[in-house]
Amino acid sequence: MQSNFFDLIPPYTIATILETARIEEIVSEFVSLKRRGSNLIGLCPFHQEKTPSFSVSPSKGIFKCFGCGKGGDAAKFLMEHEHVSYPEALRYLARKYQIEIEEEEQSPEEMAAMNERERMFNLNTFAQQYFSTTLFETQEGKSIGLSYFKERDFREATIKKFQLGYSPDHRDSFSLYAKKNGYTEDILIKTGLSIGSAERLYDRFQGRVLFPIHNLTGKVLGFGGRILSSDKTKAKYLNSPESEIYVKSKTLYGIYFAKNAISRLDNCLLVEGYTDVISMHQAGIENVVASSGTSLTTEQIRLVRRYTNNITILYDGDKAGINASLRGTDMILEEGMNVRVLLFPDGDDPDSFVRKNRSSDVEAYIQNNSRDFIGFKTGLLLEESAHDPIKKAGLIKEIVHTISLIPEPIYRSVYVKECSRMLEVEEQTLMNELNKLLRQKFRNNTQSQLPEPPIETPSQQEPKITIEETRPGYFQERELIKILLQYGNVELHHEFIDELGFPDVYTEKVAQFILDDLLKDNLWFEHVTHLKIMKIFVDAIKEGVVPGEKYFIAHTEPDISILAVDLLTTPYELHDWARKNIFVKTEPDVLKLAITTSIFRYKDQIIEARLQYLAQKIKSCESFEEQMELLVQKKKFDELRRKINQVLGVVISK
Ligand code: CTP
Ligand code: MN
Repeated sequence: MQSNFFDLIPPYTIATILETARIEEIVSEFVSLKRRGSNLIGLCPFHQEKTPSFSVSPSKGIFKCFGCGKGGDAAKFLMEHEHVSYPEALRYLARKYQIEIEEEEQSPEEMAAMNERERMFNLNTFAQQYFSTTLFETQEGKSIGLSYFKERDFREATIKKFQLGYSPDHRDSFSLYAKKNGYTEDILIKTGLSIGSAERLYDRFQGRVLFPIHNLTGKVLGFGGRILSSDKTKAKYLNSPESEIYVKSKTLYGIYFAKNAISRLDNCLLVEGYTDVISMHQAGIENVVASSGTSLTTEQIRLVRRYTNNITILYDGDKAGINASLRGTDMILEEGMNVRVLLFPDGDDPDSFVRKNRSSDVEAYIQNNSRDFIGFKTGLLLEESAHDPIKKAGLIKEIVHTISLIPEPIYRSVYVKECSRMLEVEEQTLMNELNKLLRQKFRNNTQSQLPEPPIETPSQQEPKITIEETRPGYFQERELIKILLQYGNVELHHEFIDELGFPDVYTEKVAQFILDDLLKDNLWFEHVTHLKIMKIFVDAIKEGVVPGEKYFIAHTEPDISILAVDLLTTPYELHDWARKNIFVKTEPDVLKLAITTSIFRYKDQIIEARLQYLAQKIKSCESFEEQMELLVQKKKFDELRRKINQVLGVVISK
């Protein structure tokens, strides 16, 4: 259901938004893209892959993954990627490109009509502003919250950048204020900002300083609240509960502020806490995110992989930190990424270390002390096992196990070499051990379940024939629609001699030309979506307009927009005619030729299907008269077909 909220965006504004949006700019906020010819390519964010099959076409304004098939325009991308509604996506684009959406101030009814996720985001933004204002502008906020941050050496600019705040030490100041501003109890509880029941709401974060947690686009998903007293009976940090918009395992604290630096420096520093991220940023080290105390998840690693293949873990040197690093290392390697580890001296975390040292020294320290996982594991265990062969054997096994997690064979062999050098063990011995593990893993995999079929680029895919595709003329219909979408608006000039014998030129648009030709023979496309598109063209032409490809890409009926994207991203181009040795002089010639041949090929298919049908009927027909009639029809079709093939033959062999 589209809420009436959507109706608040006037259609011409939607059109402006979609025309202004640059697909490559939108996508590259989330996916690291590389230029390839006129397109950009990258790893698809919608399915798991290690070689890029995700392509973005700036000129067409669309993205398309040849692996999983997802595709569409900038709004579609945001909807799929950020799980937002169409109006939310439009709003995001409008904000980004500073396009004003003229709409009324929201009434309570309109607020209620907004979808729930949007209301949750709205409330979080509202709360973040409230907490920031409280921090900077109230007596309590200044004397308790702000002075705490100052004590930790957070500068004002840093506090503002990370939108830190303070929640008054009162049981329901915020809840009451939010309710007064039209937020319902229901949504206050869903976001976790309030606890209790509808009758009596309490502020979750009372008396705490707050760290808003942002998603990739900078929206507030939730909060972390740190207590200021040293009351041991209360948790040091209290976080927003998981909700429809806040999923801990898929979130990394700081990713919004770090993503550009991560991509630029091609490395992501992973720390444990909110304060680590903020202190590092303040020291000018911006490629930092935090797993926020919980153990690292595969989803978090994949979030990073959109921007880089390299992660450096920076954890405390205490036992918990070491164990977390070990787990993290294995998971990162399993995702096919490179990992380095740096443990701070016991008692220090990045936050305290940064505060004790100059920024340049911190950078140098990270550079010089981070080690690859073999160095890390070896260093960790070698001391205690130096003179103990049994322990050493255990260590070797453990390292080989980690190597076996790496998906790429080439990397595995590089690490085996490295390990052999560092631990002074024969490479072959390690290889044998490694192969043993790999075989075991393979057996486990094949026994428990068949591996998922790999998603590859289309050329490597088994062609799947659907029932639709077996209909006569299916591919020819597609070809014609492709021409309609891409060239429908192009003008064709037909030269002719007028009644008085003077040469004249008659101009019409490609779409008109094609449809006239088809309708003259009363041919309508067979496939449902093709027919829908054809009808849209026919109706539009009656109105004197020809819709362009953007219209279809942005179409609200998914089958139409999917087909449009599909067709516009298939490699076939009209220019291929030149390569097929067909002699043509100019670009319009190519076009006209391509159109005529496509139409003929389509008709040829249709006639062939009718001929087959007739042949069947003739065979099974019992009455002589009927048979004669059918034969006459068949003859007509045969004749027609011969003519078409003549023309096609001429064209092809020209
Ligand atoms: N954390 C949490 N809940 C807790 C403890 C920790 O969510 N009860 C998360 C927070 O994201 C925190 C991170 O784990 O930032 C690391 O914990 P810790 O090292 O204890 O906190 P610091 O970030 O060092 O915080 P501070 O310096 O303010 O003590
Ligand atoms: Mn700390």
